[in-house]
Amino acid sequence: MKIDPWSSATYQDYTRLRDEFGIEEFSENLWKDLPHPHRLLRRNVVFGHRDFSVIHSAILAKKPWAILTGLMPSGRMHLGHKMVIDEVIYYQSIGADIIIAVADIEAFATRGFSLTGTKKLAIEEYITNYIALGLKPENCRIYFQSHNEYVKDLAYQLGKKINWSQMVATYGFNGATNMAHIFSPLVQTGDILHVQLPQYGGVRPTLVPVGVDQDPHLRLSRDVAQAHRLFNIMETKDHRIGVFVKIDTDVGKLLDCAEAVVHDLGFTKLQRITEYKALYLDDSTIEDIPWINEAFAKKEPELGGYGFLQPCSTYHRFMTGLTGDKMSSSKPESAIFLTDSPDNARKKIMHAKTGGAVSIEEQRKQGGSPDTCVVYELFLYHLIENDADLAAIYTSCRKGELMCGQCKKRAADRMAQVLVDLGEKRAKAQDSITDYISDI
Ligand code: TRP
Ligand code: SF4
Repeated sequence: MKIDPWSSATYQDYTRLRDEFGIEEFSENLWKDLPHPHRLLRRNVVFGHRDFSVIHSAILAKKPWAILTGLMPSGRMHLGHKMVIDEVIYYQSIGADIIIAVADIEAFATRGFSLTGTKKLAIEEYITNYIALGLKPENCRIYFQSHNEYVKDLAYQLGKKINWSQMVATYGFNGATNMAHIFSPLVQTGDILHVQLPQYGGVRPTLVPVGVDQDPHLRLSRDVAQAHRLFNIMETKDHRIGVFVKIDTDVGKLLDCAEAVVHDLGFTKLQRITEYKALYLDDSTIEDIPWINEAFAKKEPELGGYGFLQPCSTYHRFMTGLTGDKMSSSKPESAIFLTDSPDNARKKIMHAKTGGAVSIEEQRKQGGSPDTCVVYELFLYHLIENDADLAAIYTSCRKGELMCGQCKKRAADRMAQVLVDLGEKRAKAQDSITDYISDI
């Protein structure tokens, strides 16, 4: 199986994603003790992650961390897009720095959009809605890929440690792929890692919340981050913890520095073997590796490196379209757009594919099937905050007490209210766009 970020395929075999790609299960112990955990975390809509425990620790220790996400402005903003920004707004409320990339280079390279058209769409459709949904300007920066020289320079420089075979293996590129397209994953790597540059807040844990289709970019970014490190902190085959210098110049100086760093961290049983470019820490265990690693990462910029920590990621499920297949901007009846009129949204919901039985009598007898019902999904993802209220719908549907007509009407009423409210907030958002974007 290969994941293609530019196709319209959906990847729903979650077990396989875990086994084949190493995406781990987003289990309860990762969100339970966060401040007021968001419904998308509680309800397993976020189902997988890489290294989220790093973010979890940063949140609990109240240490700085960042969220980096990107938006591909390729059509009108719908409920599927809302989901990610809801998550981002939650993380902002618990202390994350928020950085949002407008993927105008990617839209240009892979979808044939113009940079100016993309800019207009990004501002009018997406950023205005983000503000209306509650994104705050404090500790938040939105930028365009094509305007950020640091991102583009990084993309170019980081490319030094990626070869063509790796790009072919990851993305399936071939001789007919245009060069701008080939370069666009490097720009995304620049997006993901530039937030750790000194001028953007320095080395710190970064979370990238995405759909699974974006995982190839995450793997690339994590490989590249690691490839550019000066030190590797790991357990050896004979179970010692070692700090290894990864480059061949200035080894002596780097080992001196490593000694000073681990000494400051409180380790004293050290053995230095210069010919292995190694410093062993015989009074540490594998549990110490993450924080030792972080200390080294923070030191590396002073030594001429980047010190990038590998970015962490979470993966969310995609909403089903109202028609039962994919929710897509190109099929208006499948999606509710944030700028749909309340009436129009109401109609789409009343026509939505439910998990109801063939007849009312049948449904009273057999019950409905909320697990395969897009109306239930609307409640779960967007419309009902209280878990007990959601559970009540689930149970009464299963028991055949709740009928689809009544249930759809409830969803439609709530949706209409959300859209009216958003419309009002969008009107107010117009004046504050420049508080979020410095480079329009
Ligand atoms: N490639 C993403 C998309 O197709 C957009 C994007 C660009 C992005 N840069 C990013 C997403 C950085 C996450 C992180 O939607
Ligand atoms: Fe879906 Fe509601 Fe019908 Fe149950 S009653 S199948 S949740 S629409």
